[in-house]
Amino acid sequence: MESNSLVFYLNGNKVTLNSFEPNTTLLQYLRNPEVGLTGTKESCGSGVCGACTILMMYYDENKAKPYITAIKSCQFPLIYCHGCAIYTIEGKNTALNQKLTPVQESFVKHDGAQCGFCLPGTIMSTTALFEKHQLEGLPPPTVGDIEETLGGHTCRCTGYRPIFQSLKDYFTEEGPKPPQLEIPKFPDELVELSKQSLHIKGSLWEFFKPKSLNEFRALWKAHPDALILGGATNSNQIFRDYLTKRTIISTASIAELSEITEKDGVLHIGAAVPVQTLLEYARAQTSKTPNTHNPLRTLADILPRLRSKQIRCVSTVAGELLSMSEMSALLVSLGISIQLEDVEGKTSQRTPLTDKCSCCGSMGDKAAPYEATTCCVMDCNNHGKQFITGATLRINSVDESATKKQFTDALLVSRRKDNAASLMLVVMKATLEEASKGEWKFSDVALTVSDGRGNADRETTKSFTAAFKPEGKSQLAVESASSSASSSSTPSEADIVMAVKTKRPLCVIHRLEGTAECLKKAPQLSSEAIIAAKEVMKKEIETILLTGMPTEASTDAAYKAACEKLNESRPPLPTTWLTKRYITIAAPGALNRFAYNMSHHLGITLKAIVPKKCEKESASGSALASPCPSTVDEKPLELEPLQTRYRNELQKYSFDYEKVDTLIGKPMSNMHLQSHATGMTQFTVDVPLPPRGLYAEFILSTVAHGKILKIDGSEAMKIPGVVDIVTAKDIPGENKHTGIVMDTKIFADEIVECMHQPIGLILADTPQIAEYAATLVKVEYEVLPAILTLEEAVEKKSFLSMYEGSDVVLGEPLKVIEETRQKQKEREERMKKGEADTEDYEWVVIEGEAKAGGQDHYYGETQNCVVIPHDGMVDVFSSTQNPSKVQFDVAGALGIPRAKVMCKAMRLGGGFGGKQDRPCILTTAAAVAAYKTGRPIRLVMKRSMDMAVHGGRHPMWCRYTLVASKKTGLLKALDAEVIAQGGYAHDVTGPVLFKCTFQLQGTYTIPNIRVVARAAKTNHNPNTAFRGFGAPQSCLFIEMILEHAADLLGIPQSQIRDINMNKVGDPLVTGSLISQNKGEKFIRIMWDELMKTSDYENRLKAVDEFNATHTSTKRGIAITPMKNGACFEDDFMNQAEALVHVLPDGSVEVAHSGIEMGQGLNTKIAQVAAETLGIDISFIHVLHTSTETCTNTQPTAASTGLDLNGGAVKKACEQINASLAPLREKMKDKTWPEICTTAYFSRYAMSGQAHFILPTINWQWKTKTGFTAFYYAFGVSVSEVEVDVETGEFTILRSDLIEDAGRSLNPTLDAGQVEGGFIQGVGWVTAEEIEYDIATGAMLSDMHTYAVPLARDVPLELRTTLAHGFRCEPNVGASKTTAESPVLLGVSVLMALRHAVNSARFDRGLPVLRYQLSPFTVDRIKLAIEGVLDGEDGIKYTTKV
Ligand SMILES: Cc1cc2nc3c(=O)[nH]c(=O)nc-3n(C[C@H](O)[C@H](O)[C@H](O)COP(=O)(O)OP(=O)(O)OC[C@H]3O[C@@H](n4cnc5c(N)ncnc54)[C@H](O)[C@@H]3O)c2cc1C
Ligand code: FES
Ligand code: FES
Repeated sequence: MESNSLVFYLNGNKVTLNSFEPNTTLLQYLRNPEVGLTGTKESCGSGVCGACTILMMYYDENKAKPYITAIKSCQFPLIYCHGCAIYTIEGKNTALNQKLTPVQESFVKHDGAQCGFCLPGTIMSTTALFEKHQLEGLPPPTVGDIEETLGGHTCRCTGYRPIFQSLKDYFTEEGPKPPQLEIPKFPDELVELSKQSLHIKGSLWEFFKPKSLNEFRALWKAHPDALILGGATNSNQIFRDYLTKRTIISTASIAELSEITEKDGVLHIGAAVPVQTLLEYARAQTSKTPNTHNPLRTLADILPRLRSKQIRCVSTVAGELLSMSEMSALLVSLGISIQLEDVEGKTSQRTPLTDKCSCCGSMGDKAAPYEATTCCVMDCNNHGKQFITGATLRINSVDESATKKQFTDALLVSRRKDNAASLMLVVMKATLEEASKGEWKFSDVALTVSDGRGNADRETTKSFTAAFKPEGKSQLAVESASSSASSSSTPSEADIVMAVKTKRPLCVIHRLEGTAECLKKAPQLSSEAIIAAKEVMKKEIETILLTGMPTEASTDAAYKAACEKLNESRPPLPTTWLTKRYITIAAPGALNRFAYNMSHHLGITLKAIVPKKCEKESASGSALASPCPSTVDEKPLELEPLQTRYRNELQKYSFDYEKVDTLIGKPMSNMHLQSHATGMTQFTVDVPLPPRGLYAEFILSTVAHGKILKIDGSEAMKIPGVVDIVTAKDIPGENKHTGIVMDTKIFADEIVECMHQPIGLILADTPQIAEYAATLVKVEYEVLPAILTLEEAVEKKSFLSMYEGSDVVLGEPLKVIEETRQKQKEREERMKKGEADTEDYEWVVIEGEAKAGGQDHYYGETQNCVVIPHDGMVDVFSSTQNPSKVQFDVAGALGIPRAKVMCKAMRLGGGFGGKQDRPCILTTAAAVAAYKTGRPIRLVMKRSMDMAVHGGRHPMWCRYTLVASKKTGLLKALDAEVIAQGGYAHDVTGPVLFKCTFQLQGTYTIPNIRVVARAAKTNHNPNTAFRGFGAPQSCLFIEMILEHAADLLGIPQSQIRDINMNKVGDPLVTGSLISQNKGEKFIRIMWDELMKTSDYENRLKAVDEFNATHTSTKRGIAITPMKNGACFEDDFMNQAEALVHVLPDGSVEVAHSGIEMGQGLNTKIAQVAAETLGIDISFIHVLHTSTETCTNTQPTAASTGLDLNGGAVKKACEQINASLAPLREKMKDKTWPEICTTAYFSRYAMSGQAHFILPTINWQWKTKTGFTAFYYAFGVSVSEVEVDVETGEFTILRSDLIEDAGRSLNPTLDAGQVEGGFIQGVGWVTAEEIEYDIATGAMLSDMHTYAVPLARDVPLELRTTLAHGFRCEPNVGASKTTAESPVLLGVSVLMALRHAVNSARFDRGLPVLRYQLSPFTVDRIKLAIEGVLDGEDGIKYTTKV
């Protein structure tokens, strides 16, 4: 039976939809204003972050029972919901009436969120897991099950510790009996509906979901051009087409295609089997046979690391086979055979490794089998020729006997443990035979090596295969290299000729487009460039056809020529050298792992595959030129198992706080947690758009520097639903915004100054149409020369203006350095002359360079705003940390008084500094659009645009000269130059750099020091404020400088830090003295305490012992201190406002100028208000931040949120206290509500309004006098890591953190800030890399490649302590901020990694690592171990003294 209506249940209510466009995702449907279920969030929009996760029940026809799963709704077509029951976070709750489920309750109880943006998705995923176990009568989930589920969720705030805490003890097998969850009954009606086929016709798109294979065949015959979809997990991409008429036929509900069966050692997998089902099958089977290494074990090992469970539950085996990814590489490399069927029902089978395609004749290439498969099947599919019905995989490919064994293994490496684009995949499939007693040889080996994009590394693959040659007495002797490939059934030449002549060129075109697709974010890969490349290829093919018979080789050559043409317009990716080098260097490690697994699981003694040549070259310290596994060495296998590869413990944390009976100092949860957990919290992005509202999308520049010749929006305007285009000429006021200098344009007018610069807006009826239409606007440029790297800017002296004389100097650093150099020279000359070395001169000069990478804020809620014009005014709802600045800039853009602009920021789904100034990019643009059209405007940046446009943490480069004592390690002088990559405009680069310079000395005393700061001007969007604001870079640099000195002087790392630690009375580079009042005395106390509590010295010894006995795993440990100043250095910025109203029923409205963004500011404010008024905290209601209540204020930044706003609220409450004091005295025995009612009727003033300023610090640039901070927050961290020497992957075994929060105002929130900030710092130094195309300036990083830490990347053990007994008297509640400083604690992980890497280098005869660059990613770690990075990136340094 066929249905023409879409019917499903939503939160228990039946929904029937008759007319809608089939290219709608479930998330778009849920969040659209008519449905309004905005508790389900959109963050990445690409299936990565998990914010959009919902719970789905459907009827599994094969098993004849309901099934529960979690789904990422941004990648799930609405039409797929037919017959399903969908549950969103809201459930039966309403905004005013909420009942928590046990899972929600646990998250609330354990502070399982901060900003709350990720929470609904995480709750739905974990609820689905627990309910599934309960429904299916399984035992409670294990910690591993929870980890697998959390692998699909990104939380940027918490550091995951409280998330684990919320789940582990209550719902897993480890805790007490988990609570019974209320499992919704699957509606009977849906059982019947799910047996129906579906046919939906929209205006452009037509959709069929057949239930049987026969039905599918008939439909396909009738619609040969239809697009076949399996799981449709790329639907978000596919659905973005608003011009083409499309027909879709889905395989997802065809029962015949959804089964896995096994017969005679051959697995048959239906085309529509979800990948997770295949994984669970593989797990179940391999658990029965632990000692085999067959393809199922490989699937069970590798599949969990690809995508996330929520995507794997939907994506199908056929869909994955056709994506040019490591997943298809894996399947094809394992020898999968694909079953195909053509329109006439004729079936065929193809093993890509060995067979030609029956449709187009394309051959698999053993070096890149999946490329060919993907190419030809997609091509044939697209031309209505064949579709995949299933695949077969031989599990036992040989008859195993005592003398014959099968071995299959794979190794996948990525920059984070889950859900990441991989760096390398190596797959081995081999058969071993016992030639003589105890001597085994390979009779069959197939190896493939591919990169993260699934592209084969042919050279490495071939060189590896060549490595398996019979060699001397080696037990790793191989009979024939890749005999599986050579034994293939070679097609006749005639076949090939025919096929190549007719179809192969199509495949090549497809391959070319695939390549272009991979590179599509490089905007200069214009359609013209692709057309030009295709032309080249066409000519090549024509030549081939004219001159002779085409072959694989000749068509490949055509492909290569076309690619070269593409590369002319698009030089290689900046990291290509890194990835390429990584693969060639790391792949031998994979072979060692395989050898290890062979010996352990098959009982065969093997020897390691040691790259002899590498060792020789490395010993001389030179860079490696080529992959090395050309020989098989006699070296015995010494691989250690990776004991700690997977988490076996969860974090603990503790804090000491005074036992308090006051609200100030009391550990309390974030007051918004319950509404976060129920999805009722409204963020700006959830504010409904008023009637007549339009959706806007930026038109961005596609060149880094150029003159705009023409903007042609005619194609875009043809699309139904597009309303208008807005450009610079529509701005009624001034075309500028952001920062102090205000040199950023709202829309580029004549000149484009960077790639991805806003040029205009497209306005449309829906966000999807606006997004699509923006891609159709054509802008013509006259391209001008661009500066795209920091180094190039320095070379060309391209700098942004800074304050005159912005360098800071203490003592006479240059003189000391010069004198020391002179003495060193004199000594060397004396020595040269052979004179006796009488004077062992103590001081030495050390020079070096260090580079710190940038970082994307990656907050949950991307930048967005709604602008509503009315009555000569505008109301702006903005996700900003700085409403007054938005008010100022919007007024300027519209040319109206500031009083006519209201800006409201309800709360933020994370800010981290990225929403300090940059929201003005959106608000000014949307305000201009509202002015032009007179209609409300919503503007939301999608994740990739947010990353490309809004800027991030400043990459910085530090060049330094240090004078230190050879004997003691004492520092005497430092001359450092710090250069930040600013971008094309100032934004806040100046102040960021100043903070870096002020704090470059860290917690160390250096009597002679100069720091010079410069901001490089490049053709990029400006970088901006980011948690720490220059302090993380300063901390990283000084710790690298000290590490350099310690290594050269032969002094232990901790000792050089200890000996130079600040003492009260020492001078600072800013001229003031280190003082008791600013808290410097605390650093010594904390250092000593953490040395003791972390057991640093003993653990260091244990690490050294471990390293002495291990070669393939290495450990490292490091202790680093940090210091961070609180407040803006410009006094005028240190001001805030508060407005407090007491109402007659006793409830209190508190408005303040700070922004709640997850840090718990509103909770702390409520504590201050309740404590000051002497009432219960339940009376306090904190209002949204708005310029209507508090204006003329500053961003919630510089760690001042509580210090300023808490002070203002306290003052306002004191005014109320003063007013009500006589009445309270009279009504001593009455309750607070009774007093308030009487106060109202007796006409008492019941409101307070206060303005608060911090004490003047009076920093004067001209005289370089005054202070640069109100106080300092201090901290120390110890981290221990374990590195897999073979691949560079690592695990943080344990981190101990201690942070000075003064007398913490709320230890629960402060400890949460410390943990979350620390993990953000760890991400910055180890994994998060912003990558630009150095040729064009295009942003290459996106949500798939940018590796924010996930749940399994955090330390196995995390111990967080708030220092006990400290007070910061002048501040509110004697507390200190914990907002920014914890990021700096992450530096200890980088230092620990360097320690581990050095141990591996020493094993290789390499000197200590001097290459100082962050992030120290998995690939960089491996290359550093092998000596490949030495001398790279132009980083210079002293190597001996
Ligand atoms: C979070 C996330 C991360 C990802 N990471 C990567 C990555 O790193 N690398 C990468 O390459 N991809 C990546 N992808 C894409 C991913 O590979 C695809 O989304 C998935 O493989 C497609 O499976 P599907 O069943 O959803 O296929 P669909 O989206 O339904 O289809 C995919 C393609 O296969 C075709 N097809 C499907 N079934 C058949 C059939 N039976 N016969 C013939 N043709 C068929 C379709 O026409 C379509 O062209 C990622 C996706 C997500 C959501
Ligand atoms: S996974 Fe859907 S929004 Fe990120
Ligand atoms: S709480 Fe997880 S992203 Fe903010």
